[in-house]
Amino acid sequence: MSYPIVRHRRLRSSAAMRNLVREHAVTVNDLIYPIFIVRGEGIKNEIPSMPGVYQWSLDRLEEEIREVSELGIQAVLLFGVEDHGAKDAHGSGAYDANGIVQQATRRIKELNPELLVVADTCLCEFTDHGHCGVVHYDERKGQADVLNDPSLELLVKAAVSQAEAGADIIAPSNMMDGFVQAIRRGLDEAGYENVPIMSYAVKYASSFYGPFRDAANSAPQFGDRKTYQMDPANAREALREADSDAAEGADMLMVKPALAYMDMIRALRDRYLHPIVAYNVSGEFSMIKAAAASGWIDEKAIVLETMTGFKRAGADLIITYFAKDIARWLRS
Ligand code: PBG
Repeated sequence: MSYPIVRHRRLRSSAAMRNLVREHAVTVNDLIYPIFIVRGEGIKNEIPSMPGVYQWSLDRLEEEIREVSELGIQAVLLFGVEDHGAKDAHGSGAYDANGIVQQATRRIKELNPELLVVADTCLCEFTDHGHCGVVHYDERKGQADVLNDPSLELLVKAAVSQAEAGADIIAPSNMMDGFVQAIRRGLDEAGYENVPIMSYAVKYASSFYGPFRDAANSAPQFGDRKTYQMDPANAREALREADSDAAEGADMLMVKPALAYMDMIRALRDRYLHPIVAYNVSGEFSMIKAAAASGWIDEKAIVLETMTGFKRAGADLIITYFAKDIARWLRS
């Protein structure tokens, strides 16, 4: 059948008709809002490259948590911003029972026990060298290497201490091989068999993380993350990564960044039955903010179109710094 029998415009003829046949929608239940926690007191520090996003000290966190809760957002993703002086080679702040993320988790659970706390499980915010694992200088190669298995041990300690503090979801992001299996075992042994793992399964070595590294004070002090994060040129490799994490027991699979990797969101959607998570990262946020601030684009329309695109590509959940704005827009 073809034109003139077929006329596609019939189903676009009015707002009601378009509402009736719409395939995808973003809801507030899909959104996870990242929050940066900093040491100190009385701090609400706007991140210059991320307008409207702040580093919060524990004593002021209530303001942010109240707003997020009132907007109906179901989950926040916590990042710790550690003082330079408190960092060390093994990132011990990541698995300190009184670490910044652990304290923030307990505080949030006091403020609103129903708000889900997702803990980003990584070492880079807590290591003095800024890498996501244990660094070893290889004399023979003349270069530094991030050691896989010793890093896993520390990551497991971090995950268990986050669960102990009350985290509802563990989200390992350091891209070591076997991290889901190691964390699953560690959580189960510690009695947290009901805490799910949201794996950063497909995480690329991306320049879109730039603003985040300023916000979290976590840029590598030398080299880059290309020996553990993925090459942006690779798609089949992403499926191998996700296969490993799925086999190791990940409960949800993430693709990060999102915008330049919509094909991978779709590929994971088609291949797995797990919830698929898109991480709309800092650089994607900053680009829209900058263009909007210049008056070049309509921020609300562009953000909602972008989010709808993630859903259409196959994402179930979206981690985004726009979560509060979206929740507000969806209401009005
Ligand atoms: C930790 C981590 C990073 C991001 C999330 N978890 C930074 C990195 O890998 O360098 C980036 C998030 C963003 O850019 O919004 N490893």
